[in-house]
Amino acid sequence: MTVVFVTGTGTEVGKTAVTAAVAALAAGTVAVLKPGQTGVAPGEPGDAAEVLRLAARPGHPVTVRELARYPEPLAPDTAARRSGLPPVRPEDVAEEVAALAAGHELVLVEGAGGLLVRYDEQGRTFADLALATAALVPGVEVLLVASAGLGTLNTTALTAEALRARGLPLRGVVVGSWPSGADLASCCNLADLPLVADAPLLGALPANATGEGGEPFRALAHAALSPELGGGWDPEAFTRAHAVPVPGTP
Ligand SMILES: Nc1ncnc2c1ncn2[C@@H]1O[C@H](COP(=O)(O)OP(=O)(O)OP(=O)(O)O)[C@@H](O)[C@H]1O
Ligand SMILES: [Mg+2]
Repeated sequence: MTVVFVTGTGTEVGKTAVTAAVAALAAGTVAVLKPGQTGVAPGEPGDAAEVLRLAARPGHPVTVRELARYPEPLAPDTAARRSGLPPVRPEDVAEEVAALAAGHELVLVEGAGGLLVRYDEQGRTFADLALATAALVPGVEVLLVASAGLGTLNTTALTAEALRARGLPLRGVVVGSWPSGADLASCCNLADLPLVADAPLLGALPANATGEGGEPFRALAHAALSPELGGGWDPEAFTRAHAVPVPGTP
């Protein structure tokens, strides 16, 4: 896995937290790109700064880049239009990823919102950023960050189907924020998410993950992500531990 586009079932589902967790567990050099940061004024910390705070530690540097930022919390295309600033183009993202991939073993690219969020006035989406990059750089895959509870199966299935239709490989699904005292839907979703995605469940980040950065965050990420993402989390054991008996059955 060399270039991973991190998308989500929606906004605020934990893409930044999961991106940071994957970056924290990277075995080699790692870079994180946020192509379009919205809802942040110049000089304010965005998602890239949050990834740096969480994932970097002594001996484990993380390169972070942002291509554009827009002050209003809107889809990047809308935010670009309303601000009069240039939009993010797929070709610019592809070139930036290629440059980062030349100097890093792993490049993570975090989207804004979900997969079909638009980035420019031609209607090109986060999926188009991944496709343009895949034309330039080998090994592009997508990681889907899903919310835990009711509604996530539908948005996960829709995202997986949209990826398949475009020929973009879905590496797996990570639950972005696993609540303590998870409800019935969240517990059942652990078994259903990989089914509807037709891709493995690769982690479940606890809902209190974004406190201290550095080594404590690395340890937390290791306990929450599967070996395929560099961690020690066991999806089958976790799913079994949260299985809810059907009422009336022994
Ligand atoms: N596992 C988690 N532990 C602690 N806080 C979390 C976790 N997941 C999400 N959050 C919190 O929820 C909010 C949204 O999370 P996050 O920024 O990672 O979402 P996102 O999908 O990256 O959103 P965006 O679409 O704006 O980039 C943040 O305030 C974040 O700190
Ligand atoms: Mg984010």
